[in-house]
Amino acid sequence: MSDSKPTILVTGGAGYIGSHAVLSLQKAGYNVIVYDNLSYGHPEIVQDVLKVELIVGDTNDRTLLDQIFSSRNITAVMHFAAFIAVGESVRDPAIYYQNNVAGTLTLLEAMIAANIKKFVFSSTCAIYGMPQEIPMTEKHPNNPLNAYASSKYMVEQILKDFDRAYGLKSVVFRYFNASGADPSGNLGEDHDPETHLIPLALLTALKKREHLFIFGTDYETPDGTAVRDYIHVNDLASAHVLGLDYLFNGGESEMFNLGNGNRFSVREVIEMAKKVTGVDFLVKETDRRPGDAPILVGSSEKAKSILGWQPQYFELKTIVNDAWQWHKKRHGYS
Ligand SMILES: NC(=O)c1ccc[n+]([C@@H]2O[C@H](COP(=O)([O-])OP(=O)(O)OC[C@H]3O[C@@H](n4cnc5c(N)ncnc54)[C@H](O)[C@@H]3O)[C@@H](O)[C@H]2O)c1
Repeated sequence: MSDSKPTILVTGGAGYIGSHAVLSLQKAGYNVIVYDNLSYGHPEIVQDVLKVELIVGDTNDRTLLDQIFSSRNITAVMHFAAFIAVGESVRDPAIYYQNNVAGTLTLLEAMIAANIKKFVFSSTCAIYGMPQEIPMTEKHPNNPLNAYASSKYMVEQILKDFDRAYGLKSVVFRYFNASGADPSGNLGEDHDPETHLIPLALLTALKKREHLFIFGTDYETPDGTAVRDYIHVNDLASAHVLGLDYLFNGGESEMFNLGNGNRFSVREVIEMAKKVTGVDFLVKETDRRPGDAPILVGSSEKAKSILGWQPQYFELKTIVNDAWQWHKKRHGYS
C-alpha cells in the first residue's frame, strides 16, 4: 500500500458493504482505518482478511472521534455505519434516529472541527417510497415510508446544509438491492437477523433455515412476485472509490443512484439459487408485506456519466454464485 495516498476512515467497515469498500480502497492504493462499534460487524474480517486497523468505536462518541481526527492524517470519511432493518425501524424508530441521524451528526461535527471536508455516504433507494416511474432516477420525488428510510433522508438534508454552511463536500449513493460477494469467497453478507432474499435462499439451501418465504405472488409483474434491481457489492464498492476520487478532484456535492438496471423477480432469484446450489429447497408462498413495492428498479446513468462508473457484475448468475462461494466457506462447506 502506498503511503502517498490519503488515509480514509471507513465507518461500518466491519459490515457487509463497508468491508467490500475497504478492499476496493486498498486495491486503489488508499490507506484505510475502519471505525465500527461491532454492533453488527465482524472484526475477524477486518483484522484477518482485510488486515487493516480496526478502531472499535461508536459514531456517537465525539471524544473518541476528536482524538482520532486530531492524531491521524485522515482526509476523508466513508460512512457505512447504520442500523439497517426496516421492520425494526418501524417498531423502534428512536434507535434509528439516535444511531443513523444523531450518530452521523456527531461524526460530521467532529469532521468539521478537524477541517475534514470530504464525505461519502450510504443512502438508499427507500427514500423514494412507492415508485411513480420505472426506472427511478435521482429526480424521483422523495417519500420515505419508514424510520430507516427517513433517517437516511434526514442525513441527506443535513449534508446539503453542511455544504452551504461549512463547505463539506459529499457524495451520496442511493443503493438499490446490495447483493453478491467478493469472488474470492473471503468477504460477504452475514447479517443477523438476515432479511435479504439471496442470503436467505442460500441459507435455506445450506439447511440453516427450513424454508424460504415468498411475500406476495399477486403483484402486477410477469410472474406475480416482486421485482428488484440487484447490484453486486463489488460494483457498489468501485463506485465508492470513484466517488472519493471525484471529491479529491474538486467535485461538488452530488448524489447518485447505484443499481444494476437489470430487473429480477423473487421467483427468478429463487430459481437461480436452486440452480447454483443444486439444492431444491422448500419455498412457501404467503401474503404481501405492507409497504413493499411491486417493482423497484433504478437508473444509474448519472453515476455512469459523471463518475465514469460501469457495473461489472450484472448477471444474476454471477451475483448468486459469488454469494454462494462466500456462504459455503462461511459455514464450513468448502
Ligand atoms: N444492504 C443493503 O442492501 C443496503 C441498501 C441500501 C443502503 N444500505 C446502507 O449501506 C450501509 C451498510 O449496510 P450493510 O448492509 O453493510 O450493513 P451491516 O450491518 O453489514 O454494516 C453496518 C456496520 O455498521 C456498524 N455500525 C452500526 N452502527 C454504528 C455506530 N453507531 N457506530 C459505529 N459502527 C456502527 C455495524 O457494526 C456494522 O458493522 C448502511 O448505511 C445501510 O443503510 C444498505
